[in-house]
Amino acid sequence: MKGVVLAGGTGSRLFPLTKITNKHLLPIYDKPMIYYPIQTLVDAGIREIMLVTGGRNSGDFLRLLANGREFGLKDLHYTYQEGEGGIADALALAEHFADGKSICVILGDNLIEGTIRRAVEDFRKQDAGAKILLKEVPDAERFGVAEIRDGRIIGIEEKPQRPKSNYAVTGIYMYDATVFEKVRKLVPSRRGELEITDVNNAYIDEGSMTYAHLEGWWTDAGTFESLLRAGNLVAGSRPSVDAEAASVEADVDSARSL
Ligand code: DAU
Repeated sequence: MKGVVLAGGTGSRLFPLTKITNKHLLPIYDKPMIYYPIQTLVDAGIREIMLVTGGRNSGDFLRLLANGREFGLKDLHYTYQEGEGGIADALALAEHFADGKSICVILGDNLIEGTIRRAVEDFRKQDAGAKILLKEVPDAERFGVAEIRDGRIIGIEEKPQRPKSNYAVTGIYMYDATVFEKVRKLVPSRRGELEITDVNNAYIDEGSMTYAHLEGWWTDAGTFESLLRAGNLVAGSRPSVDAEAASVEADVDSARSL
């Protein structure tokens, strides 16, 4: 399966941090944000990856990532989204790259603690359709929210005022090749974007959407609060840099005393 990382848009909710750089190049603890979704795909065994970027600083992605050698990749594919027509608009640019095969899509501001390997393997076995990953959250109104009945998703609402469940649709989506036909049929939402939620609802309507629950923490990083939370979550799941430095110092001291 091929992978697509969506890192277009203007990041206006993080202004002025995004005045002179792209949101996905901002630091999350010790790495630029974009490293995390790429690593998530690589950890799931995906080796062919396209990055959709946009805005004035798109050249910086190439300088930072080049051919993705840091991730063990042979090369990375890039494309450019003009304007910010929405997540589905960015996804449409990957049609040629997908080349009629299934894809795993991840939003450039989504970070996870664990792995999506199992879900990707399950989707490989799924003949057609789509698969999404859900996470129970306390603030579902910030996300696409899934309504589940008898173990099936019967609809998704984008940022509802009164969410029908606590299950947020995370920014990790697996699609068969019909996704691009579905994107072509979309009309812009009230916020003027082609919504990924409308794509997912098209799969739900045809009865071909499956889902799994994401294990471990998950966060986006597109607001000041979630950017800070993302950094803290990453830091909390790493051995502390200070602790490592202290243990190196202790090793040096004990070597000296010999
Ligand atoms: O994080 C999960 C949520 O992401 C889902 O629950 C929602 O259903 C989905 O609509 C999305 O919501 P946001 O409003 O948080 O999406 P945002 O506009 O922040 O865009 C998320 C990423 O998508 C962004 O980091 C880069 C990519 N994107 C977004 C836009 C609007 C693009 O590549 N191009 C775009 O035009």
